Amino acid sequence: MEVNGQRLLENISGYAQIGKVAEIGVERIALSEEDKQARDLLKEQMLSLGLEVHIDRLGNMIGLRKGKQDLRPVAFGSHLDTVYAGGRYDGALGVLAGIELIHTLNDQGIMTEHPLALVNFTNEEGVRFAPDMMGSHVYSGQASLESILSSQAYDNPNDTIGSRLKVIGYDGNAEPGAIAFDSFIELHIEQGPVLEKEEIQIGVVEMVQGIHWTRYTIKGEANHAGTTPNEYRKDAGYGSAKIIKFIGDYSREKENAVLTTVGSIEYVPNTINIIPEQVTFTLDLRSTQAEALEKAQIEMDEYIDRVVEDEGLELLTEKMVRFKPVHFPSEMTNLVEGAADNLGLTSKRMPSGAGHDGQMMNHCCPSTMIFIPSVRGISHNIEEFSKDIDVVNGANVLLNTVLSRSGGDS
Ligand code: HGY
Ligand code: MN
Ligand code: MN
Repeated sequence: MEVNGQRLLENISGYAQIGKVAEIGVERIALSEEDKQARDLLKEQMLSLGLEVHIDRLGNMIGLRKGKQDLRPVAFGSHLDTVYAGGRYDGALGVLAGIELIHTLNDQGIMTEHPLALVNFTNEEGVRFAPDMMGSHVYSGQASLESILSSQAYDNPNDTIGSRLKVIGYDGNAEPGAIAFDSFIELHIEQGPVLEKEEIQIGVVEMVQGIHWTRYTIKGEANHAGTTPNEYRKDAGYGSAKIIKFIGDYSREKENAVLTTVGSIEYVPNTINIIPEQVTFTLDLRSTQAEALEKAQIEMDEYIDRVVEDEGLELLTEKMVRFKPVHFPSEMTNLVEGAADNLGLTSKRMPSGAGHDGQMMNHCCPSTMIFIPSVRGISHNIEEFSKDIDVVNGANVLLNTVLSRSGGDS
């Protein structure tokens, strides 16, 4: 069975107008006005397809479609929020392919044995509020809802998850996780170069690498740039520069076995002729190997402590995210591979470098992911792009994987 590809592509293009940036980019920060508009459109489409819509207290949206039997729903979906100056496929592809899946089953009058659940998770990107994959993290029972509702935006402590949910009208009343799923399947762009380079159509995602997010604040002493000899300095700028170089060198020495990124940095007072009093930066640390990830974190923190001591500085460390690598069960990955084979598509078993809701959902039900190629491996960038044929192939693999799992004749 195949989806209506043209209808799916038009829907993706329609959502991409919400938060449009430049030609093909999208910026829809979680719980922003743009996120609300996309959510409102999704709710309207869910209702028009006859789904029963549930909004939980964290704003996760679930569209339920009845099955022949009263079994746990087979769930699929992703997220509608994006990063700053992001792309139109990251997250939206999984949600909108889910809409198209339901639409196709309605067109063909097919009822599956299991009910089906289409999900849009809140704040997958973690751009203003940690942790990322927030909605699925709470849905899968890994964090307390109350602590998450009170978490503050990095850029404005007056904004909390709870306050923003109220402003956009998505502070639902269902308890996250109240609807227990049979399984969860997420279609997503690869966001890397592998499938395109190897000319493979479908990625069968076997695992998602572990992620550590940490925010470091290095405190020194403001002083005059022209009158303060080095031996009198408490230079937070110099100290953080040594640390950031160590962090980058570490990943290159490990030949990508551990990936490190210092994606944000802030100097205070950020003035040309004042020795920086304080530098705050974030470390995004990832590895497919749990031990390598833990070891890297320990070695980085030891080095940071040494530099802080040597340079007479002070340190504040904020652990934001500690997610272990996740392996998807073969009962699920085999379904994806089988669906790709039945559709005559080439596929490759592979890990995911990016974090996803699928890695969270695997904590509460058997999950897996389906990748399609990203042109030039670009993502988290307005140039993010996937070819129409690959979008449609991915949606067909999702449809047939869900049919296999939910007992629908494909
Ligand atoms: O950070 C990630 O990997 C995901 O895009 N949230
Ligand atoms: Mn994503
Ligand atoms: Mn992303």
